Amino acid sequence: MFDFLKPKPKTALPTFAPLGIDIHCHMLPGVDDGSKSNEESLACMKVMHDAGFERMICTPHYQYPRFPNIEEDIIQRYENMKLDFVSANAHGIPQLKGVAGEYRVDSGFADRVKQNKFLLVGGKYLLTEFSLHQQVIGLDQVMFDLQMKNYEIILAHPERYPYYSSASSKLQHLKDMGVYFQVNILSLIGFYGEGPKRKAFEMIEKGWVEFLGTDMHNTLYAQALIDASHDRKIIKLMEKQKFLNNQVDSLEPIKTNKI
Ligand SMILES: [Fe+2]
Repeated sequence: MFDFLKPKPKTALPTFAPLGIDIHCHMLPGVDDGSKSNEESLACMKVMHDAGFERMICTPHYQYPRFPNIEEDIIQRYENMKLDFVSANAHGIPQLKGVAGEYRVDSGFADRVKQNKFLLVGGKYLLTEFSLHQQVIGLDQVMFDLQMKNYEIILAHPERYPYYSSASSKLQHLKDMGVYFQVNILSLIGFYGEGPKRKAFEMIEKGWVEFLGTDMHNTLYAQALIDASHDRKIIKLMEKQKFLNNQVDSLEPIKTNKI
């Protein structure tokens, strides 16, 4: 009775709205192990938008020899993707705010550093990843060389490397060097197993984590993102924890001097 007198419940913002921008996803189709088509990207991007992401930056893999992507080609594909989405009149998806990369620190990486050839997140941040199986040999030197060139480094999903615990002195050293950490949202629901889940929360608790990312690859990930957006522990985390995603917005396309 008199229900109409009750104040309307506040419409809750989508869970990941405070992040605003996703800085790590594989939605540029056909260039890595992520989305295979515009249709698949659109399906995933609708989920990302519903989860709260208003903007996103595509970060295809650069990994030798598995994904030998070339920056010029990636930029061209990204421009085509944008045109395709405009002509498809795609609504309810995050705004495309640039293309960068997720650069594997592998045997081809030193050459990239020498050539200064990177597409950066927000024109500023170099998103890096390591092998999931073995530690990078000579990591300190690689990071030092990057910092000498004034790159701001983000390490993608530190919680996923089985050879690092959340108390790892190697990770502590990277933090001491000023490397930013980006945890995968899906790690927080155990998408990659219990180990990465526990480490993800522990690293956030330690104040090591500046960014969250979807690392969206396909509709399986999209379904998991829906689950994550309804997870009570994650909703609480998003209410109390501040991340820096919103601060990486950029002009586009993002490029280094040589590209
Ligand atoms: Fe990734």
